[in-house]
Amino acid sequence: MNHKLFYNQLYTWFEQNHRILPWRETEDAYAIWISEIILQQTRVEQGLPYYLRFIERFPDIQSLAQASEDEVLRYWQGLGYYSRARNLHHAAQEVVARGQTPFPRTFDQIRALPGIGEYTAGAISAFAYNLPYPALDGNVYRVLARLYDCEMAFDTTEGKKYFRGLANELLDRDHARLFDSAIMEFGALYCTPTSPECDSCPLNLFCEAYKHHTVELLPVRKPRPKVRDRYLNYSIYIAHGQTLIHQRQENDIWKHLWEFPLEETAEQQDRPTVPHIDFTHVLSHQRLHARFYIYKVSTLPSVEGTKMVSLNELDDYAFSRLTLKALEYIGL
Ligand code: ADE
Repeated sequence: MNHKLFYNQLYTWFEQNHRILPWRETEDAYAIWISEIILQQTRVEQGLPYYLRFIERFPDIQSLAQASEDEVLRYWQGLGYYSRARNLHHAAQEVVARGQTPFPRTFDQIRALPGIGEYTAGAISAFAYNLPYPALDGNVYRVLARLYDCEMAFDTTEGKKYFRGLANELLDRDHARLFDSAIMEFGALYCTPTSPECDSCPLNLFCEAYKHHTVELLPVRKPRPKVRDRYLNYSIYIAHGQTLIHQRQENDIWKHLWEFPLEETAEQQDRPTVPHIDFTHVLSHQRLHARFYIYKVSTLPSVEGTKMVSLNELDDYAFSRLTLKALEYIGL
């Protein structure tokens, strides 16, 4: 492929079509890092308000390092995948402890931080420092799979390595910031998973999948692992405006988030006389069947490991999205 012509086409498309996004308007590696971690699990429209709030409260790595984990989790509340927030916090503390402020400057230093993989290290290196690294997110894998008509699964160790090779080959090493932004945006907005408009695509000249009519078959993923069902029985005790909550400690989903007293059972449990609401909550590998039992009582029972809080203080604690849904539904 003629790289010069390819870049020309790609950059022209980008200049005319890209979204204005705050993390694209900055070269602050810290802010770019925050945006990338948020966007790993969230669509742009959904992540944007979180990013803005987070940056306002924690404008630099020192402010994040000095915050309590509880506060960081509260700013993350509702985004899911809370280990990412905890890693963010740990990484900030590491950077400050090592004197690498305002942010590490090389790919290897960045890659070594907790919660930062190949993708994020590449994205920060290119977006903040214009270093010649590709940033392979789902959008970029899709574009590459189609350009090269590559039917290898991109989410295996072997596939990642192969696609990284393709990306390095195609990368515009002198303009990595522009290249990575443009190819990612092209995947997000134009080379979409279904029904992209290939006939008018500015890159179709270079696209092997277009030539071979395989666009809609690509990219290929490895078979998904089975989803596990879990049954969570929560007890919401309410007495005189007070309730009981506890903080999750286990190495499991929602570590360090708060929730109501929980009994997990192997199958759906029934407490026939107690009013309840049901929610199903789907995570990547688990389907959670949650039942919230509501106990209006005159005195709170004693439940090991719980803390008594007043209902109007609940905002001070970080809860999972599932629990927030239940709270909202109940009107608490
Ligand atoms: N998704 C992940 N990173 C992104 C970025 N920098 N811009 C737009 N979408 C993204």
